[in-house]
This record gives sequence, C-alpha cells and structure tokens, in this order.
Amino acid sequence: MDRLKEEEFIEEVKAANEITSVIGEYVSLRKRGGSFIGLCPFHQEKTPSFNVHPEKQFFYCFGCGAGGDVINFVMRMENMTFPEALNWLAERAGVPLPERETPAEQRAQKEREWLFRLHKLAALYYQKVLTATPAGKKACAYLEERGISSATAEEFLLGYAPDSWTGLVDLFQKKNLPLTAAEKSGLILRGEKGYYDRFRDRLMFPIGNPQGRVAAFGGRLLGEGVPKYLNSPETPLFSKGRYLYGLFQAKDAIRKEGWAVIVEGYMDLLQAHQAGIKNVVAALGTALTRDQAKALRRYTEQAIIAFDADAAGQAATMRGLDILKESGLAVRVATLPPGEDPDSLLRKEGPGAFRQLLEKSKDLFTFKLDYLLEQEKPGTPEQKARVVAAVLPLLAAEENMVVRDEYIRKVAARLEVSEEAVYTEWRRYASAQRKKKQPLDIKRKSRNTNDITHTAVLPPAASGKTGRKTPPHPEREVLRICLQEKKNLERIKEELSGIEWTVEEYKLFFTRLLEVGEEENWPPPASLFPAELRSIYTELRAENELGLPPGDLEGCCRRLRQLQLSREIRQIQQEVAAAAEDSPELQEKLALLNELHRRMREEFPSFSGLR
Ligand code: CTP
Ligand code: MN
Repeated sequence: MDRLKEEEFIEEVKAANEITSVIGEYVSLRKRGGSFIGLCPFHQEKTPSFNVHPEKQFFYCFGCGAGGDVINFVMRMENMTFPEALNWLAERAGVPLPERETPAEQRAQKEREWLFRLHKLAALYYQKVLTATPAGKKACAYLEERGISSATAEEFLLGYAPDSWTGLVDLFQKKNLPLTAAEKSGLILRGEKGYYDRFRDRLMFPIGNPQGRVAAFGGRLLGEGVPKYLNSPETPLFSKGRYLYGLFQAKDAIRKEGWAVIVEGYMDLLQAHQAGIKNVVAALGTALTRDQAKALRRYTEQAIIAFDADAAGQAATMRGLDILKESGLAVRVATLPPGEDPDSLLRKEGPGAFRQLLEKSKDLFTFKLDYLLEQEKPGTPEQKARVVAAVLPLLAAEENMVVRDEYIRKVAARLEVSEEAVYTEWRRYASAQRKKKQPLDIKRKSRNTNDITHTAVLPPAASGKTGRKTPPHPEREVLRICLQEKKNLERIKEELSGIEWTVEEYKLFFTRLLEVGEEENWPPPASLFPAELRSIYTELRAENELGLPPGDLEGCCRRLRQLQLSREIRQIQQEVAAAAEDSPELQEKLALLNELHRRMREEFPSFSGLR
C-alpha cells in the first residue's frame, strides 16, 4: 500500500476508535477539566497520574512516562506491534483492512514473517523427530529420566535435533526454501562444503515470543559435555536479553495470580509448570535485562526470583534485582537450599516444598540485608557499624517512609543494636546525601513543575517519581528535542556528526528527520513518517505536548559523544587483547588506546564508566 493510503487507513482507524472509549475498557477514568484521569495500567500507583486528552487523542502518564495515541496504548496494553495494534483496532471498529502491498519498509516485516514460518517448520520437524522416529528414542528416554511428561513436552513443543549435519538443511531443500535466506534464521550455517545444521543431537526447546510464535531455540545435550546448552544466535527475530522463556505459556496465569516467578533455566520452568505452578518464566541463564523486565511488567507488578543459591548471591543477580525494581516490579527473592535448583527441588520434594519456598521469599531489602549479614557475620561493634553503613544506601532506595521505618527496626533487631543508633546513622547519611545533591535538586525542581514535593523527600535517590523513572535514552531524548524546534535539529546534526547511533529505530527516525528537514511546518506531520516509525513519533509528540520538561540538548549530545568514545575504547581494548604479542600491530593499537584514553580524560574528566 502506498504511503498515502496507509496514512489514510491509520487516520481512519484512529478516528473510529475514540481514545477515551478504548482506554475506558481497561482503566476506570474520571473527568477532570478537559481531560480524564485514572490509575495508570502500566505501573503501580495509588494516586492517579494517568491522563487521557480527548481533544488531542493522546494519553500520558506523569508517573511512568508512558504516552502516545490510541494505537500506542493498545500496543502496550495488548503487547502488540504497531501493525498488529492497527489491525486489532480496525477490527474493533469495523474499519475494513486495506490490501497491503509492499513498500520498502514492509520488506523487513515480510522477512520476519518468513523467518517465523521457518522456525515453526523447524519446531515441528524437531518435534516429529522426537516423537515419531527411532532417532528420537534416546531423547524421549532422556526426558523421561528428567521427569518431563509427554504432555508437558507437547505443550512446550519440545523436540529433538537428530545427530545429523543436514537434517534441517535437507528439509528446507525439499521444500524449495532458499538456503541463503534461511541462513538468517541462525538454524543453518554455511561451511566450506555447503550448508549444515546448527543444532545436532540436542533436545530442543523452542523459545516463543509473547504471542507464542517460535523465534529461536535452545538445545541441550542429552548427556555431559560442552556447551551444555546451545542457543540461537542474534537474528532479526531474536536477541537473548529480550526474551523470557515460557512467557507465552505463563502469561495468563501471571495475570490471574498477579505475580510471576522467575527461574533460571529451561528445566526449572518445565518442572514448575508441570507441577501446576504455571506463572513461571525463565531468564535463559543471563543476568536480567531491562527489556526482560519490561516484557514481564506488561503482565504483572510483582515477581519472585527463584535462582539457585550460588546464583542468587552473585553480583549479577543483585543488579538484575535492581533492574526489575527500576522497571516498576516489586521484587522478592526465594532462596533455594544449597546445591538445588527449582528443577531438582521440585523433583525431590514436590510442589509443596517449592510453594513454601516462594511463600517464604524475602523482599529485596531483607534479602540484601541477610546477604550482608551472611558475608560479614558481625560480632564486634566495628563489624556491626560496617553493616549499618552498607545498609544505608539500601534504605535510601526505599521511597516509602513507613516501609523504611520498618526496615530500620529490622536492621536494629538483627544486629542487636538500638533502633536509635540506626536512626541516627540514617539521618546523618540522609543529610549528607541531601547536601551533596542539593544543587542538582534545585535544577530538577525548576524543570519539573509537576513534581513539587520533590525536594521535600530525603534523600534524592529515594524520592518519588523521578527516582523511580529510568533516565531517558539519550538518543531518544535527542529526537524528542529535535521535534520541538527545527533549529534544534540543525544544532544536533552538527553536534552529532560522526556519531554512530546504537538503536536502529532511533537512527532511522533521525535519518527521516534529516530528510524532512526542509518541511515548513514543524514538527513535521505524522504523514511524513513510515508506519514503523509512527509509534515512536506519536510517543515523542505526546511527551512534548503534554508537559514533559524541554530536555537538555547539550547534555544529551555530550553523553552520546562520551558513549561513542567509550565504545571505541572497548573495541580497541578487544583488539589489543586479540593481537599477537610483540607484533607491530599491537604497538599501534596500544598507542591508539592511549590516545583514546587521553581524549576521554580531557573531554570527560568526571567519567568513570570505563570497564
Ligand atoms: N544456559 C545457556 N547456555 C549455557 C548454559 C546455561 O543458555 N551454556 C542457560 C539455559 O537457559 C539454562 C540456564 O542457563 O537452562 C541455567 O543453566 P544451568 O543452571 O547450568 O543449567 P540447568 O538449567 O540446571 O540445566 P540442567 O538442569 O539441564 O543441567
Ligand atoms: Mn538443573
């Protein structure tokens, strides 16, 4: 469909779906002045900060920053892509779907679609090998040994990749599928002697997107060996840090129960699900990422982490916990007995034991406190003082005073010191923090007119809205600033020349902005942006027009230059590590590295983010 028709279709769909009526189906809205307010469905809150403007047909939440038009709302609420939400709304209002032709921007979507079909084909093939061929016998035996029923295997579409170099390749060939294109799926690879299967002799776990479409695989060896698990590489469909295994099968249960369990591995998840604990997702063995937290946050506000004891103590997990919290999830931690993971515990002691463990889970503060006590085993007054000092920043991360009070009492009790002593230390810490942060706070206050209580809450890190909101991505922020005034675009174009953009979508958006830079009307109208940029376009417009502070043009550009420099440094560091000893190449790279470090020190003296 050409752009104009697409544009008309979008406008028609929007016109047919009045925003307050759509949102009203999810959120109970009250009229206030010219707009409506209610409790934000995208984050947990007790006082409404979610605004719907019927006149502008926008929504915006001052608490979590969610905003946009009716399509953006449905995308978030129903976890859909832009075209999915568009069609969904078209159907809801009875707007007939136009015939979609293929302009350039739909090619990528088509490719993804094709890759999804390839994955489905592969999943069914692996499943068939598992359940209906002699080759699958040993994998069936393995599943039985691990206590996975055939019903569970079926529900999760488990399969077996046979011990063959060309099982899948042959299938693709038989179906006349072009292997060069299929290589993009990551399921087959090209070697000197032609194409071959990535997964061989492995139990296959299809990894689905939230709509249940297979986007990748994990494959486990049937015995010992390395790597025990092999996963799909990054593809147009898949990126490890963005997926939670089992989310599709778990999402209804998560909504119904109101909370989710996060486990580490495939087997942990299957075993829990099979035991009737269905609100479970698995993190695929990585430290939790913001994207994963966001994916989960669409279905619930509470999560319990059930990692094995070693992993739970690791710094990576601790960071993962903070990420969950920052994404608006209340986190609790269930500690497993040493040496056990949920899979082994469930098999040895049954669902009751696992449920009990979940019930005994600790809030984040208590978990960290216990961890500190475990590490420090404080006996002497000095040791106790050290623990208190380590706890103070954790207290600061708690924004609710009543909860904080409770924590302080807990610390005192656990350390067998007086509550007054802990309170005194807390007050000292808070006031020192306040002094440190004061200049910043005044600045914030003047920019953030909707947040007048800000400076009254101590310390700053513990304050309400701004404390919880994750800072905007600088690339996104730059785009928002560009949309405000045309001259900002010119400035930014200069400031960022030579900088690589890291987020594809933002890069495309910026390129498009430069292309439409001649436009007289500013911001340029939505019709000048292709469908896949429409969502971000309306979000940014909504933020600009519904009162978000103007944004710090210079600061963002500086930050992006800094990030670019640190990327270059990391790149060279890797090359240094890979270079042969005593080679002239190494000398060259070291000199370059020195130069980059020098530039970093000079241009960004306070920067300490290098790793
Ligand atoms: N993992 C991975 N690649 C590896 C090792 C682990 O992707 N080489 C991921 C898998 O999702 C795995 C999870 O990390 O399920 C946890 O790893 P681990 O604890 O080592 O395995 P288990 O899940 O306990 O696997 P099993 O019980 O089958 O031994
Ligand atoms: Mn295990």
